Amino acid sequence: MLDWSDTIVAPNSGRAVHPAFGRAGAYPADTCTEVTGLGVIERGAARVTVDEKRMINARADVNQILPLKYKWAWEKYLAGCNNHWMPTEVSMQADIALWKARDGLTEDERRMVKRNLGFFAASESLVANNIVLAIYRHLTNPECRQYLLRQAFEEAVHTHTFQYIVESLGLDEGELFNMYREVPSITDKAAWALNYTRHLDDPAFKTGTPDADQDFLRDLVAFYVVFEGMWFYTGFAQILSLGRRNKMVGIAEQYQYILRDESIHLNFGIDVINQIKAENPHLWTRTFQDEIRGMLKDAADLEAAYGRDTMPRGFLGLNAASCEDYMHFIANRRCAQLGLSPVFAEAGNPFPWMSEAMDLKKEKNFFETRVIEYQSGGALAWD
Ligand SMILES: [Fe+2]
Ligand SMILES: [Fe+2]
Repeated sequence: MLDWSDTIVAPNSGRAVHPAFGRAGAYPADTCTEVTGLGVIERGAARVTVDEKRMINARADVNQILPLKYKWAWEKYLAGCNNHWMPTEVSMQADIALWKARDGLTEDERRMVKRNLGFFAASESLVANNIVLAIYRHLTNPECRQYLLRQAFEEAVHTHTFQYIVESLGLDEGELFNMYREVPSITDKAAWALNYTRHLDDPAFKTGTPDADQDFLRDLVAFYVVFEGMWFYTGFAQILSLGRRNKMVGIAEQYQYILRDESIHLNFGIDVINQIKAENPHLWTRTFQDEIRGMLKDAADLEAAYGRDTMPRGFLGLNAASCEDYMHFIANRRCAQLGLSPVFAEAGNPFPWMSEAMDLKKEKNFFETRVIEYQSGGALAWD
């Protein structure tokens, strides 16, 4: 139990500090305690006002969620809670029978399924680690942090899904979870994204300068817009396409739930980026906008390589070329959401059924399988 009766003042800060932290060298004078919310309590400090709240570099106490400033963040938190699901509630019996049957799936389909699972299995952890260890600390708004905590749990549910699939189908767990370090087209994507979070991984990193704030924006684009908003979408299309042909319907149903979660993750990320832009217009320079457009183009190229690797021959209604077209369509859509001009020539959507797959309420019998109606309220906008 700390005894605060004998507080002293931290060097250069004017703030009260517990004696245990007050010795010379033990308390970094320039630490912005407001960023983490774990610093010394400012006794008698004024109450928080909405005007003080900011997405990044806030001075307002991050331990006080009310008064709400960003209602969109709170609404997404509620929407996420309304979408609660667990992978173990989806039956895998039909998938197990098909996977073990001699002629259940073609070799091409098995290759695609395994690589798809391998990509997602590690990606869910990469995204979760980025949220918890990089983004959370620097996003200085309590209602956004509330959403991040919900999202972090959902990423855990998604990781659980891949553990459950591996266990159900009797897959080689090492082969699947280590695929992001063994299959070059998957490694290339993970390495590209990690390149943008490396700055934030530095314990000394902090926002507050234009360069650092742009580093933070790059990380948000790499993970929310590219990883969750582009690459995951090809992965969903691959499995949902199989589900439409009544194959691997259990996994397809789980992917429907993951897609519903990821759609909110993506839209939260877009809102965060656009709000940071609005509050810090000096960061959104023409040069920086071109750089972000370049990131989305590079990401689409990496996805095209992954598509050729996972689908060298293609299937009914799905092949590497149609997936590349889909990625161009999605990349342009993400540009529009960020207020950027498109990176590719006008592209149509080769998979219009993807938007139906996202609407669980409307398409209850999409896979003619048992669909659990978890949605208990709240209006959701799908993209
Ligand atoms: Fe996820
Ligand atoms: Fe996600």
